[in-house]
Amino acid sequence: MTQFRSRIAGTGSFLPEKILTNADLEKIVETNDQWIVERTGIKSRHIAADGVNTSDLALEAAKRALEVAQLTPKDLDMILVATVSGDQPMPNTACILQHKLGAGQCMAVDISAACTGFVYGLTIADQFIRTGTYKNILVVGAEVLHRYINYKDRGTCILFGDGAGAAIITRAKEDEDSKVYSTHLHADGSISDLFVLPAGGSAIPFSARVLEEGLHYVQMKGREIFKHAVRTMSHACDEALTHNNMTPDQVSWVIPHQANLRIIEAVAKHFKIPMDKVVVEIEDTANTSAATVIIALDRAIRDGRIQRGQNLLLTAFGAGITSGSVLLRY
Ligand code: UT7
Repeated sequence: MTQFRSRIAGTGSFLPEKILTNADLEKIVETNDQWIVERTGIKSRHIAADGVNTSDLALEAAKRALEVAQLTPKDLDMILVATVSGDQPMPNTACILQHKLGAGQCMAVDISAACTGFVYGLTIADQFIRTGTYKNILVVGAEVLHRYINYKDRGTCILFGDGAGAAIITRAKEDEDSKVYSTHLHADGSISDLFVLPAGGSAIPFSARVLEEGLHYVQMKGREIFKHAVRTMSHACDEALTHNNMTPDQVSWVIPHQANLRIIEAVAKHFKIPMDKVVVEIEDTANTSAATVIIALDRAIRDGRIQRGQNLLLTAFGAGITSGSVLLRY
């Protein structure tokens, strides 16, 4: 059987206009700018206005990615939306996006892998292209997570923001240098209790009790998550390099999940990769969950840091605990 290779043909991202700064948060919870910057590297985050939903952010990012790839919505064979804050539980956000984009009746489905969602999506797209099933796939990471955050909990409310990023994954031509080398995914459900959104599913459906106890908000054991984040992303990156017989110096850029600057620095230290080869966009975006990796990638492409022909290592971890990496030549 002929095996095809996939490549990133275009990327796009979108952040809502409204900005919530650390100074704004100081007025809401007992925290301060210095603590947040020193412990996380975050100064501000974008917040979607009322009535603006995950599919709206996804739409803007997708349009920008399609424009770069020089494709139209009708060219798409599959739409994947990685999100844990979709417009509603049913139908999926990918179907809503398909309609808003004016795409054809292609397959459209959401991926629930929290902050690793985009890396999971890219992997699924890569597999559909390798087998020759599809040629053009839209992979989106999009979140309006602020609606699931308890702004009385200083341990979580400082960390998260809203945003979306999108990539068009296409079949590479035979003589094309640009390609996905390999993808590596993991999950460890035995520690899933470290980061949860308890209500809204069949285990705890919505009720007055949910609102009283705040079970519709994200709950996190931050310090524990921190350790697993460094461990799982380091492991996923090691795996990608070993699989491709590559050394860290052959990687031009690492694009990690943007959860905390100290986590990113610890992963870079593990590889002895200098921080000037790591894309860091957390300062004004905060943690946009499934969207962080693709937003960071898109911004670094658009400002010229990332160039065609460079080797990129994408890595993420998230609730689940999910984790993974993608090694590719851009
Ligand atoms: O996509 C994955 C999502 N989650 C993550 O990535 C979270 C990973 N974890 C982290 O980023 C860090 O653990 C946090 C930023 C959440 C917390 O940083 P930390 O250095 O692990 O702080 P800590 O939880 O150990 O708390 C240290 C102190 C505590 O006070 P005491 O008990 O020492 O008196 C906290 O109560 O800092 C206090 N604290 C705060 N102080 C000011 C916790 N949050 C805040 C805050 N402002 N926002």
